[in-house]
Amino acid sequence: MTLVHRVLYTRPIISMQDHIARGGGKGIGAANRMEPSAIIDRVLESGLRGRGGAGFPAGRKWQTVAANRTPEAPATVIVNAAEGEPGTFKDRTILRRNPYLVVEGAIIAARAVGADLVVFAMKRSFGGEVDRIRSAIEEAEDVGWSEGLQLEVFEGPDEYLYGEESALLETIDGRWPFPRIVPTFRRGLQTAAAVDEPAPPALVNNTETLANVSRIVARGPAWFRTVGTEQSPGTMVCTVTGRTRRHGVGEVRMGTPLREVIDAIGGGPQRGRTIKAVLSGVANGIITESMLDAPVSYEGLADVGSGLGSGAFIVFDDSVDMASVAAGVARFLAIESCGQCSPCKLDGLTLTQRLTKVCGSEAVSHDYDVIRRRLGTVAERSRCYLATQQEQVISSIIEHFEHEMAAHVSGAAPPVEPELIAELVDIRGGTALLDERHRHKQPDWSYNKNDSGTVPVELYSGARPPWQA
Ligand SMILES: Cc1cc2nc3c(=O)[nH]c(=O)nc-3n(C[C@H](O)[C@H](O)[C@H](O)COP(=O)(O)O)c2cc1C
Ligand code: SF4
Repeated sequence: MTLVHRVLYTRPIISMQDHIARGGGKGIGAANRMEPSAIIDRVLESGLRGRGGAGFPAGRKWQTVAANRTPEAPATVIVNAAEGEPGTFKDRTILRRNPYLVVEGAIIAARAVGADLVVFAMKRSFGGEVDRIRSAIEEAEDVGWSEGLQLEVFEGPDEYLYGEESALLETIDGRWPFPRIVPTFRRGLQTAAAVDEPAPPALVNNTETLANVSRIVARGPAWFRTVGTEQSPGTMVCTVTGRTRRHGVGEVRMGTPLREVIDAIGGGPQRGRTIKAVLSGVANGIITESMLDAPVSYEGLADVGSGLGSGAFIVFDDSVDMASVAAGVARFLAIESCGQCSPCKLDGLTLTQRLTKVCGSEAVSHDYDVIRRRLGTVAERSRCYLATQQEQVISSIIEHFEHEMAAHVSGAAPPVEPELIAELVDIRGGTALLDERHRHKQPDWSYNKNDSGTVPVELYSGARPPWQA
């Protein structure tokens, strides 16, 4: 059996009573009997790593936040449920099936790091999941889980950067999602601080990370490590989309070969087709056919030059021209760039323009030289990881599929449209719905017919965001 069910329940849990009947609440019960440092030790020993993309050890992050809080400036826990990585739908699926598990994990995290406020950071467009979490919070308050804690829901914008942890804090604080320089464990929500007080530290964890916490605390680190690998204990909730028989979300043991994950969740390639390549979100190097047996784990995918990210596998088969994939990724990242770092926005847009030209029939070898040069500069002096994503993903596609790019430049390949790379809106009946609005999104983040020619940070700094009530 490839699919397992630790955090992704087989059927929706519809009430707190239902959650408790299925073993829920034991994590909170255990945490209430423990010292905060003992809770952190359990999470440390479990080896749980953040499921939001970077894979940072959760226990170490909790330790740092706890060390940075003071009685005057208690910490804040932020549940990152922004889920904006193209190809991922796992957090919304977890929330649809069992929001109580996430609420329980977040409350335990708050006890461990000494927080007095938990904010569930969602997107306004996630209507159904917002409703689910709101009722789970109400029921958690009713059964007394949240004593001494304030639980809030924040409904943010659809921008990709909103999910970046420091941009998330900026947005909750009432500004646009532009990443900060100061780390979140040092300066969290300013709105959580009393006037003239230093801002308290914030613990930002992904939804799936927190969904794992209650069982780690209740059953212990050794239980957690009974599946997975030494460096990647536990399970991963993966999303499979693209050119597969169906699209979906499923939970697998860390270390399961990628090919098996694609077969179990996506039904394998479409009839008569073979898999050519797989994108792991838009944050890691491309995975080619010869790497498909790599284990789905942090180290397993890093060993083949890619990464696990948020377990978002977008599959491309032999009918897909990889120049179109490169142009689609470059466009997504360049549009979503905020422009605080000029190379990220400007080189990103140049890459998009030249790669789109490569997809057509007018590219010359000079375009290719420009692409190579801009890949060398796009991540210079970058404040957040988005620019590095641009550099790494596009460089890896070129490294492995240079012949497909060259075929366009020589005129041997027919023109193709750039692939649509965008956030997932839903997965219905085994079919993923992509955010089609991205086709018309301008580099200034508007959907106007013409771009203003300026960057989001110049246009919106100081402006009241429309999603603020
Ligand atoms: C451009 C960008 C977008 C991101 N979007 C998300 C997101 O939608 N959800 C998420 O959980 N993490 C996202 N992250 C990662 C967060 O910054 C952060 O690492 C994560 O919330 C930490 O939680 P974890 O340690 O539990 O993974 C993003 C990072 C970057 C650079
Ligand atoms: S790297 Fe790009 S997205 Fe990140 S802060 Fe700089 S300009 Fe904005």
